[in-house]
Amino acid sequence: MSNAAASHRQHADHTTPLVRNAWYVAALSHEIERNLLPRTLLETRVVFFRKKDGSISALHDRCPHRSFPLSKSQLQDDTIVCGYHGITYDGTGRCLHVPSAPNAGGNIKIRNFAVVERAPLVWIWMGDAEQADPALIPDFSFLSAPTWKTVSGSFHMHSNYVAMHENLLDQTHFTFLHAGSVGTPEWATSPLEVSQNGDTVSLRRELKKSLPPGIYAVPMKLEGRMVDRLSEASFFGPAGHLALAKITVSEPIANEREEFRVNILHVFTPETQNTLHYWWFNSRDFGLDDEEASKFLYEASHAAYVEDVDALGWISDIVTTESEDYREFSFRSDRPGLMMRQVLSRLAAQEQAPATAVAAV
Ligand code: FES
Repeated sequence: MSNAAASHRQHADHTTPLVRNAWYVAALSHEIERNLLPRTLLETRVVFFRKKDGSISALHDRCPHRSFPLSKSQLQDDTIVCGYHGITYDGTGRCLHVPSAPNAGGNIKIRNFAVVERAPLVWIWMGDAEQADPALIPDFSFLSAPTWKTVSGSFHMHSNYVAMHENLLDQTHFTFLHAGSVGTPEWATSPLEVSQNGDTVSLRRELKKSLPPGIYAVPMKLEGRMVDRLSEASFFGPAGHLALAKITVSEPIANEREEFRVNILHVFTPETQNTLHYWWFNSRDFGLDDEEASKFLYEASHAAYVEDVDALGWISDIVTTESEDYREFSFRSDRPGLMMRQVLSRLAAQEQAPATAVAAV
């Protein structure tokens, strides 16, 4: 076994099976209305629709008769009538009517998926239905709290989710990839603390008395002022990453605001092994009515994330087309990423274990 292959067993990479037993974001609330929304998640086609009572149905987007996509069918009241031969299914996937065989259909059932809406996010569980505990969904209620102002956006990415998590856990890339927005020369060398609690991997970086990057200086109106920066960021599971930033004016003037907070949530769900649905949210506790600040933060965040999307796409092109026989170098700043990769490797192995045992019988 090559060193690379051995490493892959310990640290997840783009070849590691996707973890299915987790809550992932499927869509934003406003995307699911009284129509049929198709979306591929974890290599499975899903069709969503909102029922008349406001709840959401999520079904395998594949009619079990001849594999016609239900998303290309008709939504009638709270049922889907397949567009090929007219079989009707209810919101749980149960077959209600087979036009060509009115007495058949009783045993036909389409797989449905557990869905929980915590606006603006709609979460889905694609794994073992018995393990779908809504209590495991993280609390991101700040997204809709009146004390926070949020700007947000989304991307479709060409990347495996492991690389996206690593990107977010190694903030030294801010200085180079995002030199024009969130990066400053000092940030790459700021002291790093790393911790792990269960499957959550966290980092903490703190930098005293430095000039803030433009993405903070402009909306906080702190251009040219020295600030203390604190970033506490966590891999909270396969579905994403939350970064909590605190900016404090190093030498405040009387009666001015001294402290500013920004929560940056990244949620992403594998579409396939090497493509992602990605949603980002930038929430701030200052300038809630400042439209200029909102516009600036949206545009600056979007521009920075385009740099990540491009970089991870280029990396994906290399790792998915070149030989696996390469040696990966890591440094201290990679420690949170390597810890996360161990978590994903273990979770994936746990899910693969039963299938392996059955195959061996
Ligand atoms: Fe759906 Fe035939 S494929 S009814």
